[in-house]
Amino acid sequence: MDKVTVTIDGIKVEVPKNYTVLQAAKEAGVDIPTLCYLREINEIGACRICVVEVQGARALQASCVTPVSDGMVIKTNTPTVREARKATLELILSDHDKNCLTCIRNGNCELQTLADEFHISGLRFEGVRHEGKIDDQSASIIRDPNKCILCRRCVSMCSNVQTVNAIGVNERGFRSVVSPIYGMSLADSPCINCGQCVISCPTGALYEKDRTQRVWEALADPDKFVVAQTAPAVRAA
Ligand code: FES
Repeated sequence: MDKVTVTIDGIKVEVPKNYTVLQAAKEAGVDIPTLCYLREINEIGACRICVVEVQGARALQASCVTPVSDGMVIKTNTPTVREARKATLELILSDHDKNCLTCIRNGNCELQTLADEFHISGLRFEGVRHEGKIDDQSASIIRDPNKCILCRRCVSMCSNVQTVNAIGVNERGFRSVVSPIYGMSLADSPCINCGQCVISCPTGALYEKDRTQRVWEALADPDKFVVAQTAPAVRAA
């Protein structure tokens, strides 16, 4: 396979030419934070948390969807990069429920972890917020649109992997929402209760109905943790 050489944070690394910057960084041992990225399932560059500086490029590039090229010089941890990632996180959080302490994903939420890593303790941005209705009609899955960050990981999993197509992105722009079509409940959608959307969700926007313990309780006493009865994955043939 043809290879190219790129330099990431001063580290030269040779990688296949079909790699993305994110993959090359991994090869070089450089960590880049991600949120919407789900390897080989959701690689759409939606959240912009993974942005990096590429020498010669006018704007920051989303590393998860930027292909490498020979001689590329990339910086992943400059003040500009850090500030852009932090501002993106703050914008996401500005339209997100603030009840983290009582959230089912407290202590196990990718958004919360990133907010912690970027030392976000208050919110700079405030404005109109979505107030979505929680859908708890399904036999096994609860959908809370107030915690959805529109990463589309669940949509890719449901559509491309499971080929069920129970959920998608509806409406447009600020009104965008991940849900079954026509605002119907998951209970009335083609959902097969496989639970793969729950597994791919980075926040508490989708979670199992029959979960009997919160994450912190499980962490405190893993022996007593009751695993939710999620159905096994149903993969496309
Ligand atoms: Fe790359 Fe979201 S992880 S844009």
